[in-house]
Amino acid sequence: MNDNALNFFEKMAHSEKLSPNSVKLAKNSDFSDIDTAFIRKYTDNNSSVLDLGSGTGLIVNKLFPYVKSIIAVEPFIQFTQYIAKNNKITVINSNIAEFSVDIKFDTILLFALMHYVNEREAMSIYKKYINYLSKNGKMIIKNQFGLHKDVTIDGFSEELQENYFAQYRFIDKEVRLLHDAGFGNVEIVDIYPKECNRWDNTHFYALVAEK
Ligand SMILES: C[S@@+](CC[C@H](N)C(=O)[O-])C[C@H]1O[C@@H](n2cnc3c(N)ncnc32)[C@H](O)[C@@H]1O
Repeated sequence: MNDNALNFFEKMAHSEKLSPNSVKLAKNSDFSDIDTAFIRKYTDNNSSVLDLGSGTGLIVNKLFPYVKSIIAVEPFIQFTQYIAKNNKITVINSNIAEFSVDIKFDTILLFALMHYVNEREAMSIYKKYINYLSKNGKMIIKNQFGLHKDVTIDGFSEELQENYFAQYRFIDKEVRLLHDAGFGNVEIVDIYPKECNRWDNTHFYALVAEK
């Protein structure tokens, strides 16, 4: 499932129309100001941050002045060319399944990524990355989740004019996955104003998971 999503992003990476906003698929859906303000509630200028699936750095570029360091992991160099050049930021062009580093982080971000993996892949990401959190560290996950059950999209999207794959898992299931992977308290936050939520059966949430 994630391979299908990566094929989609690889095509986008090679598009002539590529721009920093390309990774925001629907029009007017760049909520990275709200994302960054939210992340700042859980970080300070001593925080080391691991940002998984950074895309074009919409969040990284807004967050870096307020934290100690950010490692941004994103496979496509065409996307990461838009990430600010600053000594607080390290860009690693890698798949998060393959990325490894011998340090722990105060904050791990998974923004707009977990709906591009299936349940099995999600479990392996949570089990892997809980080990990259420092003692009081937090993982923050944000995407749309199913309100009543899993909502899976697999096929041609008229809006995007492209094959599109996404799985908006049932919110309760995602919390259970996090607990099963070893996380303790998981806070569910309704992160955006109501009008940002376009669909009846899915909703944007941020999950703040403690080790
Ligand atoms: C919708 S964009 C989100 C970008 C950024 N996190 C944000 O919120 O603006 C999703 C990104 O996840 C990346 N991605 C998807 N699967 C990945 C994987 N297995 N490893 C690393 N990045 C991945 C894609 O290449 C894409 O850049």
